[in-house]
Amino acid sequence: MESIGNRTLGRTGIEVSALGFGCWAIGGEWATPDGQPLGWGKVDDEESVRAVRRALDLGVTFFDTADAYGTGHSERVLARALGKRRADVVVATKWGNVIDEDRRLCTGSDDSPAYVRRALTASLRRLDTDHVDLYQLHLSDADPEWAARLRDTCEELVREGLIRSYAWSTDDPARAAVFARGPHCAAVQHRLNVLQDAPELLALCEESNLASINRSPLAMGLLTGGQSAGRALEAGDIRSAPPAWLPGFRRDSGADPDWLARVDALRDILTSGGRTLAQGALAWLWARSPRTVPIPGFRSVAQAEENAGAIARGPLTAAQLAEADRVLGR
Ligand SMILES: NC(=O)c1ccc[n+]([C@@H]2O[C@H](COP(=O)([O-])OP(=O)(O)OC[C@H]3O[C@@H](n4cnc5c(N)ncnc54)[C@H](OP(=O)(O)O)[C@@H]3O)[C@@H](O)[C@H]2O)c1
Repeated sequence: MESIGNRTLGRTGIEVSALGFGCWAIGGEWATPDGQPLGWGKVDDEESVRAVRRALDLGVTFFDTADAYGTGHSERVLARALGKRRADVVVATKWGNVIDEDRRLCTGSDDSPAYVRRALTASLRRLDTDHVDLYQLHLSDADPEWAARLRDTCEELVREGLIRSYAWSTDDPARAAVFARGPHCAAVQHRLNVLQDAPELLALCEESNLASINRSPLAMGLLTGGQSAGRALEAGDIRSAPPAWLPGFRRDSGADPDWLARVDALRDILTSGGRTLAQGALAWLWARSPRTVPIPGFRSVAQAEENAGAIARGPLTAAQLAEADRVLGR
């Protein structure tokens, strides 16, 4: 087994640890005005700060957040945890959702070029920094033609030194291709895990020299062994009332048994070489493409340590990848 080295954010030359940390859950609770939870339930900020610092000590240099996560709270907690070490890391955040910080609500979206600047100014303040390393459009279904204007706005922000690079967080290769035409586009952020492959997006990353930043690398907790069928999740956790785009969980009854059965079928492959299930899920991603940078979410020091522990164990083998495809009938 070979430890996995750093990876580069596409054509930008920005180097990051092969494992990033996703800061959605540490934003705490937030919701839509009609009560749909959008966070992962309650969090302990002190534990979040300890977890980020532990990740830094274990070699993690890439953190992904969004202005929307906890309506600004995730950005603030991340800034507090990083402190002076901000200079040593690559920070990615996102814009596009309109937030009400006082009421912790996501009240809508705004895809105007003017809003990019407003949102960035607010994120810079919360992140206590003078630039964002990777700025990402959070509206996965925004109109692709219109989005070309947002790409051009991002190029202006690069010239002004306010951001170093940008990306679109989307699962649609055609949309990702619109941003890919910009010289400082670094990546596509998209869903990828052993249960939910994305061959077309990976092909686009290869052709366009972009990084593939992998959200939901642990299938929102299904690939960790931490979920069981029939066990309802806490109210306030988005998985307790999953929106249509969130498969694998059922309203009020937790993890979907069919998904858990597929995880079980993969267990021997993923836990090879002394890996835990979560570490095996990350190892699958590194083996899937040299461009992947998984960003697992976390909410404790224990999760940070387990996930960072995957780095030393390196990727799965090509034979194990093929075996996983066979087991899943792909
Ligand atoms: N539209 C977008 O741009 C978008 C969408 C989704 C995610 N993201 C980004 O991607 C990141 C990760 O994706 P995700 O949040 O969807 O889910 P994920 O990384 O697939 O799963 C994260 C969750 O799994 C559990 N977990 C993590 N490590 C564990 C471990 N070692 N052992 C047991 N359980 C563990 C934690 O939840 P529990 O402890 O509650 O089980 C954690 O919150 C997010 O934080 C965010 O930065 C972006």
